[in-house]
Amino acid sequence: MAKMEVKTSLLDNMIGVGDMVLLEPLNEDSFINNLKKRFDHSEVYTYIGSVVISINPYRSLPIYTPEKVEEYRNRNFYELSPHIFALSDEAYRSLRDQDKDQCILITGESGAGKTEASKLVMSYVAAVCGKGAEVNQVKEQLLQSNPVLEAFGNAKTVRNDNSSRFGKYMDIEFDFKGDPLGGVISNYLLEKSRVVKQPRGERNFHIFYQILSGASEDFLCKLKLERDFSRYNYLGLDSAKVNGVDDAANFRTVRNAMQIVGFMDHETQSVFEVVAAVLKLGNIEFKPESRVNGLDESKIKDKNELKEICELTGIDQSVLERAFSFRTVEAKQEKVSTTLNVAQAYYARDALAKNLYSRLFSWLVTRINESIKAQTKVRKKVMGVLDIYGFEIFEDNSFEQFIINYCNEKLQQIFIELTLKEEQEEYIREGIEWTHIEYFNNAIICDLIENNQTGILAMLDEECLRPGTVTDDTFLEKLNQVCATHQHFESRMSKCSRFLNDTSLPHSCFRIQHYAGKVMYQVEGFVDKNNDLLYRDLSQAMWKANHSLIKALFPEGNPAKINLKRPPTAGSQFKASVATLMKNLQTKNPNYIRCIKPNDKKAAHVFNDALVCHQIRYLGLLENVRVRRAGYAFRQAYEPCLERYKMLCKQTWPHWRGPARAGVEVLFNELEIPEEEFSFGRSKIFIRNPRTLFKLEDLRKQRLEDLATLIEKIYRGWKCRTHFLLMKKSQIVIASWYRRYAQQKKYQKIKSSAIIVQSYIRGWKARKLLRELKHQKRCNEAATVIAAYWHGTQARRELKRLKEEARRKHAVAVIWAYWLGLKVRREYRKFFRANAGRKIYEFTLQRLMQKYFLEMKNKMPSLSPIDKNWPARPYLFLDSTHKELKRIFHLWRCKKYRDQFTDQQKLIYEEKLEASELFKDKKALYPASVGQPFQGAYLEISKNPKYKKLKDAVDEKIIIAEVVNKINRANGKATSRIFLLTKNNVLLADQKSGNIKSEVPLGDVTKVSMSSQNDGFFAVHLKEGSGAAGKGDFLLSSDHLIEMATKLYRTTLSQTKQKLNIEISDEFLVQFRQDKVCVKFIQGSQKNGNIPTCKRKNNRLLEVAVP
Ligand SMILES: Nc1ncnc2c1ncn2[C@@H]1O[C@H](COP(=O)(O)OP(=O)(O)OP(=O)(O)O)[C@@H](O)[C@H]1O
Ligand SMILES: [Mg+2]
Repeated sequence: MAKMEVKTSLLDNMIGVGDMVLLEPLNEDSFINNLKKRFDHSEVYTYIGSVVISINPYRSLPIYTPEKVEEYRNRNFYELSPHIFALSDEAYRSLRDQDKDQCILITGESGAGKTEASKLVMSYVAAVCGKGAEVNQVKEQLLQSNPVLEAFGNAKTVRNDNSSRFGKYMDIEFDFKGDPLGGVISNYLLEKSRVVKQPRGERNFHIFYQILSGASEDFLCKLKLERDFSRYNYLGLDSAKVNGVDDAANFRTVRNAMQIVGFMDHETQSVFEVVAAVLKLGNIEFKPESRVNGLDESKIKDKNELKEICELTGIDQSVLERAFSFRTVEAKQEKVSTTLNVAQAYYARDALAKNLYSRLFSWLVTRINESIKAQTKVRKKVMGVLDIYGFEIFEDNSFEQFIINYCNEKLQQIFIELTLKEEQEEYIREGIEWTHIEYFNNAIICDLIENNQTGILAMLDEECLRPGTVTDDTFLEKLNQVCATHQHFESRMSKCSRFLNDTSLPHSCFRIQHYAGKVMYQVEGFVDKNNDLLYRDLSQAMWKANHSLIKALFPEGNPAKINLKRPPTAGSQFKASVATLMKNLQTKNPNYIRCIKPNDKKAAHVFNDALVCHQIRYLGLLENVRVRRAGYAFRQAYEPCLERYKMLCKQTWPHWRGPARAGVEVLFNELEIPEEEFSFGRSKIFIRNPRTLFKLEDLRKQRLEDLATLIEKIYRGWKCRTHFLLMKKSQIVIASWYRRYAQQKKYQKIKSSAIIVQSYIRGWKARKLLRELKHQKRCNEAATVIAAYWHGTQARRELKRLKEEARRKHAVAVIWAYWLGLKVRREYRKFFRANAGRKIYEFTLQRLMQKYFLEMKNKMPSLSPIDKNWPARPYLFLDSTHKELKRIFHLWRCKKYRDQFTDQQKLIYEEKLEASELFKDKKALYPASVGQPFQGAYLEISKNPKYKKLKDAVDEKIIIAEVVNKINRANGKATSRIFLLTKNNVLLADQKSGNIKSEVPLGDVTKVSMSSQNDGFFAVHLKEGSGAAGKGDFLLSSDHLIEMATKLYRTTLSQTKQKLNIEISDEFLVQFRQDKVCVKFIQGSQKNGNIPTCKRKNNRLLEVAVP
């Protein structure tokens, strides 16, 4: 959705009226009241048409923020409340978009805020114009020129702590896009008299105080200055410190600004040297000295200061000293030197100081211009900003005030011309009939001052150039003659008798009725100041300085360019420069800022009506409003006008389809506005009287209220209706939900009741059935019981009968058997007694044996030879048979087991048997070895390439290949060795390299000794005197001792047919070379786990601790 643009207008939220043109009634009081009202509400800006009145708030207001800049950017002048930014924006846009050169004329008296206003305009333009590195540098240089010029050209006065003591006009140049290219600054008449003397309560130029407060000790020393202000005669002491001004910090700002503007270090240095020289000049003092020829002469009191100045400026001391004592006048190739008396010497000193400083200031402006000059030659658009001293009326007004006020007269003149011209042009442009307006034209005053023949300036020049004695009084006399009849000139001595008795007008004064009020000028000093004389000796002395800047400041001192013509006077110079300025301004579109000072105390919130009234009068602001209103007070383009008032007429509200002008015509007709009250221009409607506008505004306000009520009404109706509909809809929804819920509940209740009733009935029915069934069952059971009882009785009766019958039958059979037995026994008694006893015995025994074997057959144990089970003996008399049978069975199953063996297995078992015979019950290690199969070749020598050499050296079959530890006889430590047993030899080889260390034929092995304990130590004893026995017996240890000993025993037996002696003892002797060492086995601790440790105890004892 497109953002809705809110159209605002100057007329919205007004405090008083924002544009004085709309003031009703228009008079001085209402004008001031309006300003005051606005000022009290912090509205310091008010318009008169396109002119901005600015009242100095003397406090910082939050209306210059970047947000404000954005607010005013690209907005119509009358769209927002009055602001200096609106004027700046208007000027900048018309420069950029309509290609019109602009000038911004800022006027007002001292302290009214002109300089601040000019800076605000510049900073606004800088903020809204183009951006980019190059453009920003230009902007920065333009802005930074201000602090430099303010430091050298501003001073504290009683009216303003930062009063500009020079006039400044700055042209800012832009390219076609509106990007700044550079600028040119012109300066007007620096108040140089301030350098040597300041009125009470005022200061010299800021820079002097800034140097002394802000420069480092080092720098001060270089400039031969001291920090103490009181050391310098030129510095007014009574207000050396200004409240709220930090001179030291400002000094840093100025130096920084100079750097940004583009001053080289040596230039800055030279500038400060000149400033220091000026300051020190004030300390040169003279004393009178009478000469023989009666002429007065002066002499410098203390030459030290002079010496330092000369050192600082590179001037020859004697040259400067002479220039302060003599004056050379050249006339017609003749040089005449006269001595200077003390007063003349002081005059010369001050003139030099003033000239040095003012020329330095002009040089600074030129130098800044050089830096900020536009670099390109393209066509430029120009915006000029004029910040020039305002109208001045002091108690004592001198030449300076005269000049300044003249300048203001000229500005007023141009203001009148341009304002009226513009107004007129607009009427012509819009095709509106022009009516003449009466206003005061100050051209007559300008003429009084600047007329080439009879003007005051012309007369002053004439006096200055006239040969003979010229004084200020002769000048006044001349004025009295020439200007006597001028209506704006007043003098006691004029030929016009009007002022003869005016005691307020002293004899040495003349008064001019400026447009801004009457000003009385003291004629004293006019001639001197106009002459602005610097003795030639001094300018020549300066030119001779060994200081490039000072030399450049005094070009007339060059003897080669000696010019006998007098230099132009100060007055004529000023007149010329003002004329140039006026010409320049006339070519541009003017924008006015009229600054007003609300009080004399530099205080915020104080509005002095009388003071403001005075300024309004001399600035001619009321006339300004009248001129603006003479024709038509208000004008506005058709579109915004229609937009603003279209709601006042049914035909134009809410939409007007057609040209805006026709719409406005319809609107005005409908509203019945008298025809003389407005005129239709080409693009604007012109309203003659503010009353009409206010009527329109009131109608609009009323209509807006009505519209608001209407909108509110409709909105409320709509809101209530929608609310009602919503409620209705909701109510139905709620009701339906509730009904549903209620019905659900009711249904649930009925359902549960039905279920209860149903369950009762079902229960009742079930109980009834149950009762019936139970009854039936009982009947059945009773029948069954009765039947059972009956059957039982029947059965028992039958059983009793059967038992009785069986008893009887049995009794018959027994009796029969007894009787038969008796009969048989009687018959066979004679045969039985002879051999029946033995036969029965044999038969019984036979039966028993048969039973024994048959039972044994079933109880036989397994065929494993190690199965110890054997069934228990059943009859005592078979005990020995049973044992014998067990032995036979065991032998039989052993044979059976042996029969399964292969030859190899047989060999293994033979070996195991051998081991058993040798070690069983003798060595504690033996039982653990029974389960281990004997492998022989634990080390696979043939497969490991490392042992290839060893393998090659032993060509017989290897019976044992195993790693054993060889016990060092010296310390009992073990070394790994490969133990090889072949058919004929025992070999020991290095484990790493496989090199054979010893080789012993089996025939040389006499005995093997070992302990009875659970260790693997064993000694191989060699035959004394044999080849291998040289080093002594071997004491070794192996994990497979039983296997090794067995295999060694068997191999020796098969090779030598002799049984190897195996000694099992816990103490045996071992031959180590010549010595016999006893190896003793003791029960040791378990410190090292299960590993036996071997320790050499002494020469004869090696102790093996077996855990
Ligand atoms: N818009 C403003 N906002 C706040 N303070 C202001 C404003 N304008 C002026 N001032 C205050 O008033 C003082 C005087 O203003 P400024 O130096 O601009 O006067 P001026 O008209 O240039 O006087 P002069 O003719 O003596 O140079 C400023 O130093 C500042 O303190
Ligand atoms: Mg100023």
